[in-house]
Amino acid sequence: MAKGFSLAIYPWTYTAKYTDGKWNENFTLKPHKTPEEEAALREEERDKLLEARNSFPELPLVNYTTQYGMGCFEGMKAYPQADGNVKLFRPDENAVRLARSMKGLGMPPFPEDIFINAALEMLKKNSDLGFRPVYDAGWEKDDFLSGESIYFRPFTYSEPGIGLGLSHEPWVVFIATPVGAYFRPGNTKARVTDKIRAFKGGTGWIKSDSNYVVPILEKKKAEAEGYMEVIFLDAEEKKYVEEGSSCNIFFLLKNGKLVTPELSDTILPGITRKSVLTLAQDMGVVTEERRITIDEAMSEAAECFVTGTAAGVGYIESITKDGTTAVFNNGKMGDLSRSLLKTLKGIQYGKVEDKFGWMF
Ligand SMILES: Cc1ncc(COP(=O)(O)O)c(C=O)c1O
Repeated sequence: MAKGFSLAIYPWTYTAKYTDGKWNENFTLKPHKTPEEEAALREEERDKLLEARNSFPELPLVNYTTQYGMGCFEGMKAYPQADGNVKLFRPDENAVRLARSMKGLGMPPFPEDIFINAALEMLKKNSDLGFRPVYDAGWEKDDFLSGESIYFRPFTYSEPGIGLGLSHEPWVVFIATPVGAYFRPGNTKARVTDKIRAFKGGTGWIKSDSNYVVPILEKKKAEAEGYMEVIFLDAEEKKYVEEGSSCNIFFLLKNGKLVTPELSDTILPGITRKSVLTLAQDMGVVTEERRITIDEAMSEAAECFVTGTAAGVGYIESITKDGTTAVFNNGKMGDLSRSLLKTLKGIQYGKVEDKFGWMF
C-alpha cells in the first residue's frame, strides 16, 4: 500500500504532441508486472521498474521548460467508489485551468474535451490492469482521511530550445500515481512569510512551474521551524492574505461569515476553493470573496482552513506572524471545517450524493 505521496507511476501513460496545428495522442504501456508481483519485488528491482516507467525517451532534455521553467501543470485525483468504480473529481475544471495556463504562457491551449477523454481512458486502462485502489468501508470512520486515491499529474513540456523562447509545439503528458492515506502532519500550524509568491502583472494566476520556487523554499524553511504551512501576503502592502504554498485559505469569522481572498492575478483559482464555496453556500453559510488583512484574520477568525487537491480541507490550528500567534478554536478542527471536509470527501468517495455533477 502506498504511503503518502509516492512516485509509483502507473504503467499506462499518455502524451499528446502539438505539431502542424494538431494534437497527436499516444497512450504508452510502460514496463510492468501485476500489482501483486510488483509489491513482492525486492526494493532494487521495484525501483528499477518504477524508474523505467518514469522515463520518456521521446522528450528532449534541453528545452524551454527545463531551462526557463516555461511549463505548467495540473493536479487532480480519482477516487475509488463504494460501487466498485473509480471516478475523477472535476476534471473539466482542471482541463479549463490547464488550457488557461498554457495560453498564459504563450502555448497553444490543450483542448478540454481531449483532456477529459484522455484522463478517463488512462484511468480505465490502468484500472483494467489492476492499478487502482479498492474502496475500503473502514475509511468512512475517519471521514476518508485514511482513504486512498489516484493522483493525476498532467503537465506541459516544450520542444527543444536553448535561447529565450515560447513553446509553440509542446507536449502534454499525463502520469498517474497512487496516493496513500493522508497522514495528518504532527501539527497544523501556519506562519506568515514576508517573501513574495506573486505580484500584480505577474504569473500568480497561472499554475506554472516557475511559481513554485519561492513557495517551496519558504515552506521547507517553515517546516524546519515546526510549522506545516506558510501564508503569503500581497506584494505591495504586505497586509492582505493571499494563499498558502500550494493551497487556498479560508477564515470563518466570529460573525459567522466565511471569507476567502478574492481571486486576482496573484492567486491561483483552486478547484477545491471553488467547490468549498459552493458547499458552504449550500449549507446556508454566508460566504465572502474579498480582500482580508492578516490582522483581521488573526483577530476575527474562529476557524481557519486551507483547501487543495492534496488534503481537501485542512484545518489550521494557529497562525504566527512576527512572533505573535493567533490560535483558532482552541487549536482543534472547527465544526464548519469538519462538515466541509466530510461533505467534500463524501462526494469524492461516492458516499454523499453528487448533486452538483462533479464526479466523472
Ligand atoms: C498555488 C496553489 N494554490 C492553490 C491550490 C489549490 O488548488 P486546487 O484546489 O485546484 O488543488 C494549489 C494546488 O494546486 C496551488 O498550487
